[in-house]
Amino acid sequence: MARKPKKQSGPKRELKISAIESGTVIDHIPAEATFAVTEILKLSTYDDVISVATNLHSQTLGKKGIVKVASRFLTEHEVNKIAILAPEASVNIIKNYEVIDKLKVDIPELIEQVIKCSNPSCITNNEEVVTKFEITKKSPLAVKCYYCEKEMAKEDIKIV
Ligand code: CTP
Ligand code: ZN
Repeated sequence: MARKPKKQSGPKRELKISAIESGTVIDHIPAEATFAVTEILKLSTYDDVISVATNLHSQTLGKKGIVKVASRFLTEHEVNKIAILAPEASVNIIKNYEVIDKLKVDIPELIEQVIKCSNPSCITNNEEVVTKFEITKKSPLAVKCYYCEKEMAKEDIKIV
C-alpha cells in the first residue's frame, strides 16, 4: 500500500496550549524542573484537564516549562514546594478565562516537611520527625538541617 505523501503546503503549523477556563497556570518553570512540578502536584492521579509543555523558548530562562491544571487551586504549601525547584516561576490563578491573580513564588525562610535530609543518621531519617531546614543562600539555593546541621546545596536537595 502506498504511503500518503505528507502535505507540504502552507506555513509551519503551531499548536498552542489551550487557555483554561478556571484553574492554575504555572509558567516560567526552568525546563529541567517541569516534571518535578507535576510530581509535587501529584498530577499523574489528577482527573481533570492537565497540559504540560517544556523546552519552550524563553527570553529570560533559555528554556522554560508551563503546567496548566484545570479546576485546581494550589495550597500555600504546594506553592512553597514549587518555589524550591522553580524560584522564577509564576503561578497564575484563572477564573472565567481571566488571570485574576499572579503570584510570584518565594522561597520561605524555613522549609518544613518538603526536603529530605541527606544525612542517613539524622533524626528525621530515623524517627517520626518532620524535616526542617534553614535557608543559608537563596540563589543558588543552599539549606541547613535544623536538627543535624548538615548543609545541602541545590543538587543534593530532594523533595519528598
Ligand atoms: N493562561 C491560560 N488560560 C487563560 C489565561 C491565561 O492558560 N484563560 C496562561 C497564559 O497562556 C500564560 C499564563 O496563563 O501562560 C499567564 O497569562 P498572562 O498573564 O495573560 O500572560 P503573560 O502576560 O505572558 O504572563 P507573564 O507576564 O507572566 O509572562
Ligand atoms: Zn538532618
